Amino acid sequence: IVHHPWVEFVKLAATYSKVNLGQGFPDFPAPDFLTEAFTRALGGGNHMLHQYTRAFGHPPLVKVLAQFFEKLLGRDVDPMTNVMVTVGAYQALFCCFQALVDEGDEVIIIEPFFDCYEPMVKMAGGTPVFVPLRPNPPKDGKLMSSADWQLDPAELASKFSERTKAIVLNSPNNPLGKVFSRGELGLIAELCVKHDVLCISDEVYEWLVYDGKQHIRIASLQGMWDRTVIIGSAGKTFSATGWKVGWVVGPNRLLQHLRTVHQNSVYHCATIAQEAVAQGFQRELMLYGKPESYFVQLPKELQQKRDWLVQSLDGVGMKPIIPEGTYFLVADISQFKSDVPEVPNSDEPYDYRFAKWMVKNKGLAAIPLSAFYSEAHKNNYTNFIRFCFAKVRYMANRTFVPTMAAVKGNGIWLRPTDQTCGIF
Ligand SMILES: Cc1ncc(COP(=O)(O)O)c(C=O)c1O
Repeated sequence: IVHHPWVEFVKLAATYSKVNLGQGFPDFPAPDFLTEAFTRALGGGNHMLHQYTRAFGHPPLVKVLAQFFEKLLGRDVDPMTNVMVTVGAYQALFCCFQALVDEGDEVIIIEPFFDCYEPMVKMAGGTPVFVPLRPNPPKDGKLMSSADWQLDPAELASKFSERTKAIVLNSPNNPLGKVFSRGELGLIAELCVKHDVLCISDEVYEWLVYDGKQHIRIASLQGMWDRTVIIGSAGKTFSATGWKVGWVVGPNRLLQHLRTVHQNSVYHCATIAQEAVAQGFQRELMLYGKPESYFVQLPKELQQKRDWLVQSLDGVGMKPIIPEGTYFLVADISQFKSDVPEVPNSDEPYDYRFAKWMVKNKGLAAIPLSAFYSEAHKNNYTNFIRFCFAKVRYMANRTFVPTMAAVKGNGIWLRPTDQTCGIF
């Protein structure tokens, strides 16, 4: 049985929070062009959209995904053999581990990591091997960036063995928001090629990248296409996480095994949702790189939200680590140790205690960072919590409300420049 901190924190947030910046999903609507496509599919003349479709992906969706990825990767992508549609990225991950990992195989996971990787590797009979990103605080006293969390090349190399089957890469990374640089990806790629290791590349936040940074796809590096499966999510891409449409793009030699798992467990996801996502991608293909593109607009809006939260947290004495991507932000909370009561006879880590104290006393929910680490390493990373900033709002002239911030609905308003205002 795997202990799941999420269950506890989701419940605490539901009970106490006025503002929930814990779980990761947007509270703003999906774009009109997408919901309109869904409505058209639902009520339009094509009643066959209410029936089963092709198991490995509704043909219009795999076709447009192949076209899109041809553009992104600069290579041929065959819609029928190089693309598979799944029930969210979550099921794509499950298929990958079930199909590619055998009893006794080792799978390298970079910490901190999206929590389902570990149990999924174990369910396939594999052994997770963890390697942490190590923080290197900047010396000039500036705020840290997610780019300051780096792999130690020698440590990473030492984790590859004869038993290593795969490495899981998640860039942009949840929870840190780190966007791996070309150099870092090159190092991982070199080790994969040298040791004949697969790369399971979770790229669900591929469009959420800030400050003009570029998301680089490891599959486009020398020798990597043949050994990489790329995982994506329409939920993250189009701000519609409830639709649960995801995909895998990769070489047929790997995808053929994923298709076996998929066909014999899930078969396919809702036809109408696939049809609407296909139309969303057709629009984006046409507008690619243009200012009207959702993939250009969404990160712009989120970058603004990121900056509001960074300033607010900084203003109240937390040390936010500025994320280069995703809608997550990790903040250092070591300044608040004296505010948070010790729990007698408990070995609960400080970040758990802090997160519980904050939601109960301040009505603000966030997730302790150590929840994103293995048992063996979590005690080294208990001074941080993760916020999801997709829900942050800002109103210039709002007056201060003495709890922590002015709160309305699911949003949070923060006045970042005023020291008396903010979360505490
Ligand atoms: C890194 C990462 N991978 C995969 C997923 C799951 O995506 P989906 O909602 O498409 O199943 C998430 C969702 O939070 C995520 O953060």
